[in-house]
Amino acid sequence: MVNVGAEVIPAASARDLSTLPGPRRLPFLGNLLEIRPTQLHLTLEGWSRTYGDLYTFWLGRRPILVVSNVELVQRVLRERPKEFRRWSTLQEVIEEMGFGGVFSAEGDQWTRQRRLVMSAFTPGQLRESHGVISTITRRLRERWRAAAARGEPVDARRDLTHYTVDVTTAVAFGMDMNLIERGVDPLSHQIETIFATVSRRASAPFPYWRHLKLPADRAAEQALSEVRGRMLDIIRTARAELDRDPARATAPRSLLEAMLVARDAEDPKARLSDQEVLGNVLTLLFAGEDTTADTMAWMLHFMALRPDVQARMRAEVDAELGDADLPEGPEHAQRLRYLGAVAHETLRLKSAAPVLFLEACADTTLGPVRLAAGARMIVLMRQVGLKEESFHDAASFVPERWLTPRPAGAGKHDPRAALAFGSGPRVCPGRALSLIESAMVGAMVARDFDVSLADPGRPVKELFGFTMKPEGLVVRFSPRRR
Ligand code: HEM
Repeated sequence: MVNVGAEVIPAASARDLSTLPGPRRLPFLGNLLEIRPTQLHLTLEGWSRTYGDLYTFWLGRRPILVVSNVELVQRVLRERPKEFRRWSTLQEVIEEMGFGGVFSAEGDQWTRQRRLVMSAFTPGQLRESHGVISTITRRLRERWRAAAARGEPVDARRDLTHYTVDVTTAVAFGMDMNLIERGVDPLSHQIETIFATVSRRASAPFPYWRHLKLPADRAAEQALSEVRGRMLDIIRTARAELDRDPARATAPRSLLEAMLVARDAEDPKARLSDQEVLGNVLTLLFAGEDTTADTMAWMLHFMALRPDVQARMRAEVDAELGDADLPEGPEHAQRLRYLGAVAHETLRLKSAAPVLFLEACADTTLGPVRLAAGARMIVLMRQVGLKEESFHDAASFVPERWLTPRPAGAGKHDPRAALAFGSGPRVCPGRALSLIESAMVGAMVARDFDVSLADPGRPVKELFGFTMKPEGLVVRFSPRRR
């Protein structure tokens, strides 16, 4: 087992990553047979408990460094885009599929796109969007009230994916798709199919799909073409609005309008191509959907398991909301401190993005390891926060650990190890929006319903498919007992 600090070791005395400990491998195949894509994070986390903070496993003949030391992880995340970047195969696969955007971009392209995307999530923008987020939250409440009245169990994650699509498209594109009231829509399933294919292709030993398309590849390409068609409709509508009212170009009302204005910018450094506009629309749709829906679904799971947590959330919501049915703005939502703590604890234990795929841009060292340009690594974002050296009683769900001031003697609490949204210059730009969504849905559920598991005997399992979702989660909402 190798446990390391963050000291920089001269390249000459650093070790090659192939000499690190790790699971035994087969010739040619490496550890491929031991990796089930839907359990990737669990397998890698399990190996880190055996082999330590830095170990190597093999995808075919390629070594992959796995990192879960908090200082080293922080260094890798901070030194982007210059020293480290996302896997180049991830960028290739995403761009080949036509949704290259701020998530996959690197270098100057990333800097330009990142600046624009950040403008959609400023406190002022989120305040302006609060009305539409409230409307969408009330629609979800109506849907769950109807299910409660019929005594029906609810596939909460599916409803929440509709909720997050409605919120993202309303906030970022100024277009409310209202999937919640439609009830059934292929979009969430299409996004899942696309994610699974991105994962498979990015870690494939060679680009097999350029020679032979598997049924899953064909399904993903069909799904992508349908999603692209819907997003192009949204872009066309926004463009028509801008043409009708050119004055809006000076004060765009959504990120999409800002991108369309930038598309025509005179300064070539600020200009976005049509492909960049479409790529970023798809990127935000994909990045904002499953991540936040999965997190809220896991939050409902913890609420269902812990009536004491529900009771405390409800007491806080009743006290802070007064006569209002929902938080009346982002600042109001932030006053729900216990609810915020429940969201943070959910993110620590059930991080929607438990692993990140990164590589070295040039020859460098990481702790005691020498890395050649292009050397690949996987960063175990969740595992860092599951260690006793990061958080006291790390395996338990303890929302109180996030409340301030922390009681004396509360034990270890290292905020650097809370990495659910990443860290450094590429930290998730949707963090504030997703926390507002969790606060709105959490407050709505605590105020209106008792939530329980529909089948307490059925296990809820972690399933990895680019994000980490609760498989088998079915809940029952009943009208709140007064
Ligand atoms: C609970 C919900 C969410 C979680 C756990 C989450 C997590 C993450 C993580 C771990 C990263 C990578 C950060 C890094 O490389 O350091 C990321 C990046 C990103 N997220 Fe989120 N995210 C969430 C919600 C959202 C939402 C709501 C949006 C937008 C609508 C969004 C948009 C993005 C984008 C565009 C990036 C790429 C940023 C870049 O590479 O510069 N995310 N997110």
